[in-house]
Amino acid sequence: MKKNFIYNLKEYAIKNDVPIINDEGLEFLLELIKTHNVKTILEIGTAIGYSAINMAHLDTKIITVERDYFMYEQAINNIKESNLEENIKVIYAEALELEITEKFDLIFIDAAKAQYQKFFEKFKINLNENGIIVCDNLNFHNLNINEVSRGTRQLLKKIERFKEFLENNDEFATTIYNVGDGISVSKRRMK
Ligand SMILES: C[S@@+](CC[C@H](N)C(=O)[O-])C[C@H]1O[C@@H](n2cnc3c(N)ncnc32)[C@H](O)[C@@H]1O
Repeated sequence: MKKNFIYNLKEYAIKNDVPIINDEGLEFLLELIKTHNVKTILEIGTAIGYSAINMAHLDTKIITVERDYFMYEQAINNIKESNLEENIKVIYAEALELEITEKFDLIFIDAAKAQYQKFFEKFKINLNENGIIVCDNLNFHNLNINEVSRGTRQLLKKIERFKEFLENNDEFATTIYNVGDGISVSKRRMK
């Protein structure tokens, strides 16, 4: 039942062009949750709740933020159908305007790619001392910058700038893994 529901959710997303984490990225993320003993998660970018539902099955507590009302409603319904309402709280909001005081073991950034640096800088204070910040889509489907529209080229440049921001960050040490669609894992540097 659980497997079928998740499989159908993925099929629905693919058929309806809802961007969700790919299989390899998800497997990597779930492994990170296990190896880092993650219990609490803040997710920026819910879509229909696919990644949140998968992460919640590892007995984690999740707050996930979505600014698109249609997506938010679908996420609420999918979480209800999965009986995971105790584990996942969905907040309908523009993440950059959200005031949140809780701290989390893992912050998963998977929303508008052009705003990654802003999300990172805003939510780093919500990370527990030994927590990790994970960002998806840093390879952005391996698109060639010379073969895309002007808008996509700007986006690719922003993602490159975000990677430079991570590489030159004094507070966080980051590894970018070539798995899924390119995933970064950032940890606070030891003082
Ligand atoms: C890639 S999808 C999330 C996929 C989801 N994490 C998964 O793997 O199942 C990105 C979502 O982030 C939402 N989003 C983008 N920018 C946002 C923002 N600034 N605040 C809140 N939600 C945002 C979009 O509406 C979209 O539904």
